[in-house]
Amino acid sequence: MTFSIKGNIALVTGSNRGIGREITETFLREKITDKVYVAVRDLKSVTDLVTRYGDKVVPLHIDLCCPDSIITAAKIANDVNIVVNNAGVFEKMSSLHDDAIDSLRDQFEVNTFGLMRIAKAFSPVLKNNGGGVFIQINSICSIKTFWEFSTYSASKAAAYSLTQSLREDFSQQGTFVLSVHPGPIYTDMSIEAGFEHIAEPARLVSEGIINAVKNGEFHLFPGTRTEDISKPYMEYATKVIPSKKIVNV
Ligand SMILES: NC(=O)c1ccc[n+]([C@@H]2O[C@H](COP(=O)([O-])OP(=O)(O)OC[C@H]3O[C@@H](n4cnc5c(N)ncnc54)[C@H](OP(=O)(O)O)[C@@H]3O)[C@@H](O)[C@H]2O)c1
Repeated sequence: MTFSIKGNIALVTGSNRGIGREITETFLREKITDKVYVAVRDLKSVTDLVTRYGDKVVPLHIDLCCPDSIITAAKIANDVNIVVNNAGVFEKMSSLHDDAIDSLRDQFEVNTFGLMRIAKAFSPVLKNNGGGVFIQINSICSIKTFWEFSTYSASKAAAYSLTQSLREDFSQQGTFVLSVHPGPIYTDMSIEAGFEHIAEPARLVSEGIINAVKNGEFHLFPGTRTEDISKPYMEYATKVIPSKKIVNV
């Protein structure tokens, strides 16, 4: 596969706010992409991005819970060679709470089944466009469960597990896969989690992604708050999860 880090066409889910918005704006600012499909539930929520970037952003309807919206989007955005599955939901919930099973189901629907739907729909698109890059925004909670975020952690652990398998699947068609595991990042989600006092800027994620893709890394742990988990984890992971590049970028 040949993949240049400049002048690509990307699709970013959940790009109206938070980390997805920062990824979109960084890709455009750094000219990683000439165009970004801003894939959102409410098209009006990206009006200001269209005002700022003109035809470099193309609003597209995607609800990760609605398979038809994803299939339709993949037909429209058939020129993308970077897909960033960023959209996600978070609920504070412990395993023994009365609502834990409903909470688990709801978060799996978006965070886990959503990933599978996006990967399946965009796999042929990426293949047709030379392989490209598939980026999944997982979490530090994919690695370490926090008991009061138990159902969210489980959904993100399952998404990480699937990301590992997608890496192997996608390598057959020359698609590079990156698994991103942020710690607390300042967005609506981290405020809801009660982490605003320690949360770090979203640009650590977007800038980290660019470097990780350039270096052909599979794991990325943006932010400084996660090092006590990511460092020992990577000592283990590099031994059991292939660390060599399986696709050249
Ligand atoms: N912030 C952190 O500290 C942190 C840490 C680790 C990982 N993450 C992960 O980073 C990603 C982005 O999080 P964030 O902090 O930017 O969260 P956020 O500010 O709450 O934004 C979440 C985004 O996901 C979208 N979304 C939610 N449900 C959706 C659905 N069913 N279909 C399509 N889009 C949907 C939201 O759209 P609407 O505006 O329509 O609701 C919004 O754009 C998530 O996957 C999250 O798990 C975040």
